[in-house]
Amino acid sequence: MQNLGIAITGSGSAVPTTSLDNQALTKLVDTSDEWITTRTGIRQRHVANPQESLSAIATAAAKQALEMALLKPEDVDLIVLATSTPDDLFGSACRIQAELGAKRAVAFDLTAACSGFVFGLVTAAQYIRTGVFQNVLLIGADILSRWVDWQDRRTCVLFGDGAGAVVLQANQSDRLLGFELKSDGTQNGSLNLPYNASGRELTPGIEIAQGTYQPITMNGKEVYRFAVQKVPEIIDKALFRANLSVEQVDWLVLHQANQRILDAVADRLKIPQQKVISNLACYGNTSAASIPLALDEAVRQGKIKPDDVIAASGFGAGLTWGAAIFQWGR
Ligand code: ACO
Repeated sequence: MQNLGIAITGSGSAVPTTSLDNQALTKLVDTSDEWITTRTGIRQRHVANPQESLSAIATAAAKQALEMALLKPEDVDLIVLATSTPDDLFGSACRIQAELGAKRAVAFDLTAACSGFVFGLVTAAQYIRTGVFQNVLLIGADILSRWVDWQDRRTCVLFGDGAGAVVLQANQSDRLLGFELKSDGTQNGSLNLPYNASGRELTPGIEIAQGTYQPITMNGKEVYRFAVQKVPEIIDKALFRANLSVEQVDWLVLHQANQRILDAVADRLKIPQQKVISNLACYGNTSAASIPLALDEAVRQGKIKPDDVIAASGFGAGLTWGAAIFQWGR
């Protein structure tokens, strides 16, 4: 009988070489290490230099995940790249496919901002559950430093660049225990990286719009309120679908946006701090990369062990939010 369950069998991560600490940011904007640390928990972030690309860091993360899963690139059936900052607006997944030598793999990008990893996980899982694919590589990667307004102290202190990846494989027992996804476009204006164009007349009477994307704008307070309310709710719902209680969660792996959000969500769910994975002090908010980056570090540190129950939740622009409950390993 065909295996239609899902197991997450490998993880990997990579960040650009250059790191930028809070002190360095005080040279750019009117801020302080104390403000950034107490309001966000972030101490430094990594930023990509002009020679580094999204596909390169994503490929590095993917290689590690494949190695851990004991898979060769040719074994991969599907590559899903969750990103909002591709090297190419037509998508970067195919370049990663080529760089990996994953010749058989279908590859495409998926955009759901900071929820991209969780949305990607659920998307990838559907292909396995329907028996279409056996081995899926899911990558979350973003280079938000390209789109941050480095003059805006309300946003530039928050973000960092990075990539994380996991391998999902068809498995006899299903380790994806429950999930829930949500979107609310009425709050779209809270967090944007908008395309701004001006009209250009091509021929008399025919006008098109050309321009470029504008730096990130965010209503920090709105996004904070949204996250603290919606994330506990959606984790509860995903746990209900998994038929598990909150006490059965071994690790809470949230989108690493802000330590205060992590603390408030854990508090509301009554999950003790020692079960909360946090590495945002070193990386800042790496958008679609943040969950797999935190997951991979915790796996490699031996914190997350086979069979552990993980509650992961992403939230961000769209607005979008989602949660997935899964067990690590086969
Ligand atoms: N340094 C010093 N002062 C600052 C800075 C800074 N970097 N940024 C803002 N301030 C000032 C403000 O100008 C304001 O001053 P004012 O009162 O004189 O006007 C004061 O600090 C307070 O500003 P607030 O915006 O009220 O600060 P708040 O306590 O809300 O913290 C923060 C701001 C950290 C952005 C918070 O709102 C937050 O974490 N929001 C969630 C944002 C988030 O996580 N977004 C990402 C999720 S989605 C995604 O990942 C894409």
